[in-house]
Amino acid sequence: MTLSTLNKLKANGETFSCLTCYDASFAAAMQVAAIDTILIGDSLGMVVQGQTSTLPVTIADMVYHTQNVARANSHALILCDLPFMSVATLERALDASQAVMQAGAHVVKIEGGAELAKIVSVLANNGVPTCVHLGLTPQSVNVFGGYKVQGKTDAQAEKLMADCQAVVEAGAAILLLECVPAELAKKVRDTFPVPVIGIGAGVECDGQVLVMHDMLGVYTRKPAKFVKDFLTDEHNETKDITGAFKAYHKAVKDRTFPTPAHSF
Ligand code: KIV
Ligand code: NA
Repeated sequence: MTLSTLNKLKANGETFSCLTCYDASFAAAMQVAAIDTILIGDSLGMVVQGQTSTLPVTIADMVYHTQNVARANSHALILCDLPFMSVATLERALDASQAVMQAGAHVVKIEGGAELAKIVSVLANNGVPTCVHLGLTPQSVNVFGGYKVQGKTDAQAEKLMADCQAVVEAGAAILLLECVPAELAKKVRDTFPVPVIGIGAGVECDGQVLVMHDMLGVYTRKPAKFVKDFLTDEHNETKDITGAFKAYHKAVKDRTFPTPAHSF
């Protein structure tokens, strides 16, 4: 899987699957299930390290988990989060991107909007495609004052569209929308030529992502509205983890997931 595969899927009106992954065993199972794209998410702060937010995650953590995943999966396009504060300056963004790309990532994911345009364009000029994560951006949880749906008012929706426009013009390869109204996500998908991945953003996106632990029903707190457990899903034919990945992949391809019950 490459960026051009994703662009072709979008052009053909087809969807692609994405799951977070942090280690080799699950990365190998995702290869068997033909998961299209893998995200080494800084959600590893929560699901692997037991932190209460993504803020404590370091570049060294991202490098370690990216290496573990990349060794075990040769099929998926691999995206890696740049952690908290690593795009505060251009120099930091370049150093962090070098580290995770050399660890095996194909695309770096950064949280923000129009203010990232310069960084996006410099990274592109240095051979680093970017995925820009908009909407609910968990690294800014202390600015938002909690994990809440974004883009609900007309003004917020207009700002989101302008942010997408600015980063796409700067050369962003992928957009990722978290917790935005399904109607707004559809508008983003229809307006911009790059693939749009959604989480809690409705079914009208080019790709869907979930945190692996969530979709396996492994959680300690009440899961978010957009989460579905595919381990116990009726379409999990083998009732095991690889079966859950296959059922998720098929549900995304068939657009039977997410349903309105998983959307805002
Ligand atoms: O860190 C992560 O897992 C993410 C996804 C929820 C998109 O950023
Ligand atoms: Na993340």
